[in-house]
Amino acid sequence: MQDRTLGGISPARIARLFEAETERYVAAHPRSFALAGSGIAGFYDGVPMHWMRDWPMPWPFVVESAQGAVLRDVDGHDYADFCLGDTGAMFGHSPAPVAEAIARQVRRGLTCMLPTEDAIAVGRLLVERFGLPQWQVTTTATDANRFALRVARAVTGRAKILVFNGGYHGTVDETFVRLGDGRPVHRPGLLGQAADLTQLARVVEFNDVDALRGELAHGDVACVISEPVMTNSCMVLPEPGFHAALRRLTRAAGTLLLIDETHTISTGPGGYTRAHDLEPDLFVLGKPVAGGVAAAVWGFTDEVAHRLDLVRAQSAPGHSGMGTTLSANALALAALRATLEQVMTEDAYAHMERLAAQLASGLQTVVESRRLPWHVVRAGARVEFVCAPGPLRNGAEAGRAHAPALERAIHLALLNRGCLIAPFHNMMLVCPTTTTRQVASLCGAFDAVAARLTQPGTTR
Ligand SMILES: Cc1ncc(COP(=O)(O)O)c(C=O)c1O
Repeated sequence: MQDRTLGGISPARIARLFEAETERYVAAHPRSFALAGSGIAGFYDGVPMHWMRDWPMPWPFVVESAQGAVLRDVDGHDYADFCLGDTGAMFGHSPAPVAEAIARQVRRGLTCMLPTEDAIAVGRLLVERFGLPQWQVTTTATDANRFALRVARAVTGRAKILVFNGGYHGTVDETFVRLGDGRPVHRPGLLGQAADLTQLARVVEFNDVDALRGELAHGDVACVISEPVMTNSCMVLPEPGFHAALRRLTRAAGTLLLIDETHTISTGPGGYTRAHDLEPDLFVLGKPVAGGVAAAVWGFTDEVAHRLDLVRAQSAPGHSGMGTTLSANALALAALRATLEQVMTEDAYAHMERLAAQLASGLQTVVESRRLPWHVVRAGARVEFVCAPGPLRNGAEAGRAHAPALERAIHLALLNRGCLIAPFHNMMLVCPTTTTRQVASLCGAFDAVAARLTQPGTTR
């Protein structure tokens, strides 16, 4: 029997594909190699942010420009971009209304730690779109989650946070925990981790209502933080009734519920929350909400606001532990307004939904026709192929489904065929300017790669 973590493909065949695709990449990117092949001088590890080394190529290509759903490198290759900055550019690169708003604002001040007129529009737009009455703006989704958790602790007077095994919410310390033998343990690989995060965390598997009930029964959990669909552990969909149970149990336990929509905003204009009538106490959305400009928003109910007022009235004057100087700057507010008003439209989502459905069905056809033990899963504009049978129920299953060597080879082979998908797992996003032709080209490339993996003689 094949090792399941190799997705049913022999290691030798994966290695052959990876070697051949690496040679092809090297030959096709001489200019990128000259600029960045030995690491970009001045940067630790040769890149301005170390995640840029996590792509499957021997060195990352250098981008010349990115527009809509097309990314061009300095060697003159155009890629159909299905990674879209790992969601930061989910509405396409440089959407015209955002580019215009930025150009307007750029001459009128970038940051002043005071509201601009755009803030007045943004407040109204957030309330209308997402239904929650109270909002704050931060620079990243990580910050938004951190501050929302801080408020949850402040208003409940409880210390612990409950996270789902395998979840990711940014570089938020208290979420860097996993389940190990039924107990919280640190996520592997953490650097400089001095505090024991397991003391402040409870961890259960997604979709496990009994375990959730058991952990909440301790009465010490301030907040459950969850994506509505787990998108960072392959992709795990909620089982029928899971969200209803999550809401019922958190309410009964006096625990707040934070829904992190940073990735699942792919579901629709109001995110998964609006599409499925979820009722979070706290809501976080980052990455694409300002069209690619660094900004995130977090919202909460009037009840949370009222409890926060009471806590603040009783606390000593000083630093709240929340903020950051550039948050809600004038540029971010201009971009937020343009995105909410003109980019995240019903029409844009209708297009994304239609093409993502085409993409998912095209990939599924390849999986079936090539008899691969894989599956395809989708949350609106977000599609994932998983190199293992599905559906996956939770983070532990998702962890076992990852096939890193195989995925790396596939990603590089797709890139060499003009299609860029996300580096960390097999995620593909469709944006408002993605074309049917680009979707067909990704499905064609996927089929060619699947053929290489299943038929040794194939050389496409
Ligand atoms: C669900 C979710 N929330 C929050 C974040 C953090 O976003 P950022 O890295 O922009 O702070 C991420 C990042 O991938 C995410 O996937």
